[in-house]
Amino acid sequence: GIDPNFERNREQVGEEDDVAVWGPVDPPETLGIRGTHVAVDFDICLADGACLEDCPVDVFEWVDTPGHGESEIKANPTDEEQCIDCMLCVDVCPVDAIDVDPG
Ligand code: SF4
Ligand code: F3S
Repeated sequence: GIDPNFERNREQVGEEDDVAVWGPVDPPETLGIRGTHVAVDFDICLADGACLEDCPVDVFEWVDTPGHGESEIKANPTDEEQCIDCMLCVDVCPVDAIDVDPG
């Protein structure tokens, strides 16, 4: 699953769609972690979609990631500032690709 200490163990290498990108990044195979308060490890996400279905405030939206080995769409936490820390997404993701830091 996602490293819950990614902010310490990785470097922020930029932003895409106003979402922080934590490296390493080497597209299309290596896409890094996206988001900070709500973080999705794009290299683990396999586009299950439960997070999009269950998030009560629609934090996530699909982004195309053609050529990635796990899936060619990913759940991007584009509205992470709306997060109410319900932790549903963390619980439903089958591959533990999501980390939410309440507070
Ligand atoms: Fe949405 Fe809840 Fe996950 Fe926040 S913790 S992104 S509100 S499902
Ligand atoms: Fe991806 Fe997990 Fe959501 S696999 S689409 S982050 S439920």
